[in-house]
Amino acid sequence: TSTAATSVSISGDISSQLHGGYSHPLARSWQAERQLTKSMLIYPLFISDQPDDETLIPSLPNMHRRGLNKLVPYLKPLVARGLRSVILFGVPLAPNCKDALGTAADDPSGPVISAIRLLRKSFPTLFIAADVCLCEYTSHGHCGILRDDGALNNALSCERISDVAMAYADAGAHCVAPSDMNDGRVRAIKLKLIESGIAHRTLLMSYAAKFSGCLYGPFRDAAGSSPSFGDRRCYQLPPGGRGLARRAIARDIAEGADVIMVKPASQYLDIISDAKDIGKDLPVAAYQVSGEYAMIHAAAKAGVFDLKTMAFESTEGILRAGASIVISYFTPEFLDWLEN
Ligand code: PBG
Ligand code: ZN
Repeated sequence: TSTAATSVSISGDISSQLHGGYSHPLARSWQAERQLTKSMLIYPLFISDQPDDETLIPSLPNMHRRGLNKLVPYLKPLVARGLRSVILFGVPLAPNCKDALGTAADDPSGPVISAIRLLRKSFPTLFIAADVCLCEYTSHGHCGILRDDGALNNALSCERISDVAMAYADAGAHCVAPSDMNDGRVRAIKLKLIESGIAHRTLLMSYAAKFSGCLYGPFRDAAGSSPSFGDRRCYQLPPGGRGLARRAIARDIAEGADVIMVKPASQYLDIISDAKDIGKDLPVAAYQVSGEYAMIHAAAKAGVFDLKTMAFESTEGILRAGASIVISYFTPEFLDWLEN
């Protein structure tokens, strides 16, 4: 008989019937505006100044600090599996190499500049981004140059940070990404790129909305970049500052950013959505930071959920909010998990 077929009256309301639209796995994937692909992922790398270094970072599961000699052998299989982009963070370990100006940041024989040259040569199709900041290189561990009272000297910081960005771009970085949060650094970098004739081949990705908080701890262990006094609350944004983030995003777009980034990601999905709204015509990147990654690992280890399922769910949430680029420590796993 046809009782099943007639249990919903055909003259009644049919708007409640949604299941048909997502009963098949392919139809479910069609429900997403953006599907995660390998080309959306940027993988963070910690580059040690000790050439043979390969040290596991205890607070950042499966992540290592690597010296130049370990880099190419490590990346070769990842590139073969579809790795498209990396972002480099320098980790200077040599004694007495840090000073008040972060001089080591653009040392031509330092880890980042050497790694840019090596990776450009070894992996011609790999897109190489360089994080630009001073905190890994300053004796005080802050992200700029300080005044006597410990506050940032904004003018000197922008001058110095734009020089560092230029050095990375000159060495061949496809992208420079200032994470220091000094006012006006995007403009300072863009002007120098234009003056020196390399603006056309250098993508400027601004950490436009970078919030202060407790989610960067494992990164600071990895990079040795914890401030020796105070904190970063006078330059990174306050967690409740949605309006401030919108102003920072609009400001950085006006100053010449090609991509704007929101960081952390999962705790700031509204900001990602705002960024996509304000920056309709440019790509939005989101950084799933070290604390988010470590938290997911810890919860999976405690049996709260399956690691892979949560890696997908968190990343898909970030895409749904509006990002089309994700900086992710899960990148090596996604290269295995994704088909394209
Ligand atoms: C440096 C920088 C930080 C991160 C990226 N660039 C640390 C910080 O601001 O203290 C954090 C990345 C992460 O936690 O994964 N300015
Ligand atoms: Zn910094």
